[in-house]
Amino acid sequence: MIDVLLTEAQIQGRVREMAGQIRRDFPDGLHLVAVLKGAFVFLSDLARRMDGDVSLDFMAVSSYAKGTTTSGEVRLLKDLDTTLDGRNVIIVEDIVDTGLTLTYLQDILRARGPKTLRTACLLSKPSRRQVDVKVEYVGFEIEDRFVVGYGLDYAEQYRNLPYIGVVTAP
Ligand code: IMP
Ligand code: MG
Repeated sequence: MIDVLLTEAQIQGRVREMAGQIRRDFPDGLHLVAVLKGAFVFLSDLARRMDGDVSLDFMAVSSYAKGTTTSGEVRLLKDLDTTLDGRNVIIVEDIVDTGLTLTYLQDILRARGPKTLRTACLLSKPSRRQVDVKVEYVGFEIEDRFVVGYGLDYAEQYRNLPYIGVVTAP
């Protein structure tokens, strides 16, 4: 059973707002870097709500998660295809929890010389933060619940749900 936390309509409305805000902040070139796998749905909707020039790239990391907790160690599984040199880069992430994954990503991407580097996360769990990571665009702040859907998984399941929910029974 899944309890719905954010409906498809709520998510779509907010993603549209975020796309508009990012586009206004960067009216010219914009390079979206999505973190696989969780961000694939958010990226897809966000990019389609932006008009004008947008390019995309993907990277994949593993946070050595065991079940629903993070160990803090991050491993790069897939790197970007192109350089970030002189580009306006937005990291597109599904959720900031402890902040460890995002801190690692921001550090390695900043070292590649983008013109600007900002982060967009659909979800944030502020009460779980272990490091003070900066996220310029946050879709929704949520409580400390393990959520699935809209790209987010539990043991690789539920990524296909069009809404965000909490698993009450597997
Ligand atoms: P952090 O490094 O603790 O901030 O966690 C980052 C990663 O953990 C996210 O990119 C997700 O892949 C995963 N994660 C954290 N919270 C959740 C959740 O509630 N549902 C699904 N995945 C989560
Ligand atoms: Mg993730």
